[in-house]
This record gives sequence, C-alpha cells and structure tokens, in this order.
Amino acid sequence: MGDAEKKAGYPIHSHDVVIVGAGLTGLRAAIETVNRGLDTAIVSKVHPLRAHSVAAQGGINAALGNAVADDSWEDHAFDTVKGSDYLADQDAVEIMCKNAPAAVMELEHFGTVFSRFPDGRIAQRPFGGGMFPRTCYAADRTGHNILHTLYEQLVDREKSENANEGKLTFYEEFFVTSLVKVGDSSFEKGTGKGERCAGCTAINIADRSLHGFVCRSLLLATGGFGRLFTRSTNALINTGDGASLALRAGVPLKDMEFVQFHPTTLYGTNILITEGARGEGGYLLNSRYERFMEKYAPKSMELAPRDIVARAIQQEIEEGRGFEGSYVLLDLRHLKEKKIAESLPGIRLISLDFAGIDPIETPIPVQPGQHYSMGGVAAGNDLATELLGIYAAGECSCISVHGANRLGGNSLLETVVFGKFAGQKIGKASPASGSWDRNGAEQAVLEKLSLEDVRIKALLRRESGVKMHSLRDELKKTMFEYFGVFREGKKMEKGLEKLLELKARYPEVHINNKSPLFNQALISALELEGLFDIAEAVARGAIARQESRGSHSRADYPERDDEKFLYHTIYRLKGGNPVLESLPVRLGKFPVKERVY
Ligand code: FUM
Repeated sequence: MGDAEKKAGYPIHSHDVVIVGAGLTGLRAAIETVNRGLDTAIVSKVHPLRAHSVAAQGGINAALGNAVADDSWEDHAFDTVKGSDYLADQDAVEIMCKNAPAAVMELEHFGTVFSRFPDGRIAQRPFGGGMFPRTCYAADRTGHNILHTLYEQLVDREKSENANEGKLTFYEEFFVTSLVKVGDSSFEKGTGKGERCAGCTAINIADRSLHGFVCRSLLLATGGFGRLFTRSTNALINTGDGASLALRAGVPLKDMEFVQFHPTTLYGTNILITEGARGEGGYLLNSRYERFMEKYAPKSMELAPRDIVARAIQQEIEEGRGFEGSYVLLDLRHLKEKKIAESLPGIRLISLDFAGIDPIETPIPVQPGQHYSMGGVAAGNDLATELLGIYAAGECSCISVHGANRLGGNSLLETVVFGKFAGQKIGKASPASGSWDRNGAEQAVLEKLSLEDVRIKALLRRESGVKMHSLRDELKKTMFEYFGVFREGKKMEKGLEKLLELKARYPEVHINNKSPLFNQALISALELEGLFDIAEAVARGAIARQESRGSHSRADYPERDDEKFLYHTIYRLKGGNPVLESLPVRLGKFPVKERVY
C-alpha cells in the first residue's frame, strides 16, 4: 500500500490517477498511465487475479484472417453493428474493430498463450453472429490467460526502477463507497469550469478502516451488474458498483435496459458454458431430440447471435419442449475426446464437477442466464464521462459498441482496446488540467469521508429490521421474473412497483456481523444499495422502450421500431429523481436493415 497521510483520523492517499477495478480494462489502462509516468493507483475489491475477467472463456474477436483469408475489420464491424440490432454507434465500432488485430498481437507479444493452428498461427474459431472463424482463443480459458499476462506486465512495472515510469500501487480488497467532486455545479457541463473529479472514498475490507483517495483523474473499470439477477454467469463481485457510483455523482447511465442472457449456462448453477462449444460444433436439442434452432435461425443455427439463441431456448422451455420444464441439451459427444480435451477442457471439468456428467458421453443440460450488461456509465469514444476527470471503460461503461446485443468475443476485445485508450487519454489529459486545486480536492474528500463514516456506522448500529440477504434475494428474483428474457409492459410495471417497495425497505436493512475484520456482510449491504439504483434504471428504461430490439424483447411490442426508438436511453438523477432522456444513435456506412440470420 502507498504512503498515506492521516488527516482527521482518515488515511489519505494522493495519486495522479485512480483506477477502480482490476479486471482487463483496469489493468490495460494502468499499463498506459504508468508508461506515461503517472503515479497510478489500482483500487479493487478483490485481488486482481480474482477479477471476473478471469472467467471469460471462449475468446476475443479480431479479423486476423488466419482461418478465412479475406476477413477484414469492415466485415467484423458489420457483424457487430448487425448483431447490435443497429443500436451501436458505428464510429465507436469502427475504432474497436480496426484496432482488434493489433490488440491481439500486442497481447501475444506481452505473453498470452493463445491456441495455435498446426502451422503456428493464432487459432480462430467461429462465434455467434460471425458464422466463420474470427475468434482467437486460449482453449476455453482466454480471460484467465489474458488477465495473468496483464497482471505480470504490471507487477514488472511495479517493481521497476525506471525513472520514466510512474509509480504503481495496488490497493487490493478496498471497496469504493463514493466518488468525490469539487467545483461549481452552476457552470455548464463541458465548459471545463464546472465540477470535476476530486477522488473517492473507500473501505479497506481487511479492517473496515475508511480511506480517502485524492486524484485528478479516475477511471471506472468495475465490470457489469450481473448479480442483479438470480440466474447469472457473473461472479458474486459483479454488482455494478461503477454505475451506481457514477449515477450518485451526477453522471448519467446509458441503455441500461439492454441486458444480455447467455443461451448456455449450466442448469442448476448457471456457470457459463462457452459459446465456443457451439463454435466447435456442439448443437442444441429439445426434449424431442430436435435441433430446434432450425426453426429460429435456419442459416446460422446455433451460431445466431446470443439474443436469438437465448430466446429460442426459452421459448422451447416455455412451450413444454424442455427437460423437467427447465433446460435443453447441448450435445458435444460427436466432437470426441481429443477435440474436447484440446479445445474445451474447462467445459469438461465444469460439467464433471458441477453436474456430475462427462460431455464426452452425455449432453450438458443448459438454460439461458444473465451474462452481460450492454448498458453502463455513459461515456464518449474518448472514455470521458460528463464529469471532468471521471472516465469509464469496459463493461461498466456504455460507449455503445454493443448496442442492443453484444456479439460473443467482443467483450474481451472492448476491454483491451478501450482500456488502452482510456490510459492514453488520461495520460494526455492530466498535465493539461493544471488548474486542479489539490487542497480543495483533499478537503472535499475529507468532508465526504465523515459523511460515509456516519452512513456506515448507522448501518452497523442497526440491531433489527430487514435481513440483507432476504432483501437482496427478493430483488434478484424480481428482476429475473419481470425483466428477463421476455418482457411485457403491464408485467414490467408490476415489477417496477415491486422493486420500489423493496427499495423502500433498504433503510431498515441490518446485518448480524459487526466485526471490523473482512466483514463481507457489510460490503454486500453497501453493494445492495447500489443494486437498487441500477435495478430502477433497467426497469424504467425497459418500460419506456416500447419496441423489441436485440436483447430487449417485448411481447406487447414484438417489432423493432426505428422511427420512434433508434436512440440511446440516457438515465440520470435530477434532485434525486430519475429522468429519462434520449440520444441519437451515430449511424455510419452500414444502413439500418432487417436482421435475418
Ligand atoms: O461464451 C463465451 O465464451 C462468452 C464469451 C463472451 O461473452 O464474449
């Protein structure tokens, strides 16, 4: 941990840059800020190697053309825009896809051990929405490999004595409780004179002490909010902290209604069963042992985009053609032992350990489960948010590269491409913002710390009331039931009512564990407050969007409506009240068309 001054009883840490989150986005950004000589802090609620990026399985998209020679970044961009149901901003998609091959080669040079074709080139497999091999992979542990590579790169820099490199400090197991700003809120946004970043406050989970961080620039890289839903592939840590921190600091969220359900999660635990399994040739069967995808996407079959495959599975189940009313089968048996051992070893282990079946001999029971958050903190192509000095990148952000539905393999890509750009942008921005008042920022952080102290002590003092776990479980069930794969207006209105009732009970939440040491109940209770903010943003956005587009599928408005809804939803709090606004989609070379697979 870095040197801290103690002020008013609180340790205060000063850095040029604070990066909140130590997944792929945060680590990739830190490489850039450190290389640019900036004193960088990475604040993460878990050890970096426990970030959820470690669980990414199937791969990272880049038009390397190693399997199909005439692939191009333009084709990749087209597939991404079409996959997004035309809601993605096409200039942002262009940046991502153009930079993909260089990003993968850079990872390779950093040391990522990608799977190879027999001739030694990086192997590529087909993924949904692309229909031919464009996804580079490291067996089915791609995220694991990349995360370890980037962490190694940073540990190297942490220990480096190179005077041109900035200092790097990891604050592991620190939970950020608020963003802090300074300045005059009466100035117009974008004038450079109004409010700006001062830093943040955080709890050291090990001993519950409150710490202040003072910085000119802060990057939110906290991942998604999958744990808002009962069935999710996400780690327990994915509670959307970045989005709720931003919202409370006055930064709007974007496109929160678009929540991705992955078609194949293991029945019972909802652990991810990678799309790579279908990319390698696995297929889906209903209880009549029919390859039902023929009906829903006759050309692409199991490799249609995720929204389409997830809906097809859900429909089969709801119409009585699932097993035990709950799942369908993913059959890999025809791939045989050698292929499974080589390309899908993790899937075999997950099936053995968590379902007691060996996919070499038995099909895997799967059902759709929440997997990804397309929406997030509204950020531009330069990763800047509305609040000067606050940036957002990766899954916690919405720079609109995924629109209404993300293609598999584009998430890892987004983390490394935009993580790098975020670090570069911060590197350029910090010295320029010379008027930053460090003392004023520190004062603002200290004031916020005492407010946070009061809030946390009040929660710890409560001896009775609503049990945190029951309230959280009810929230998650409500979200899955009312804002799941299929949605409908009246039902969602009821869902919102229910969720507001639950939210009203939050001030009575109590926890039994009062210990200062690793008090996970306290952290969960604080996360829960943020989850309620996010739930409301998802619900209000979904109710207002009276159309079906990508992952947002409404029984009462089954068609896409480009005339009324080809826009992004902006959600912000004004005077504590939710407000919905809209922002036009930035179109480009790909005209808006019907989406046929
Ligand atoms: O299915 C998967 O391996 C998931 C990949 C992704 O979300 O990009």
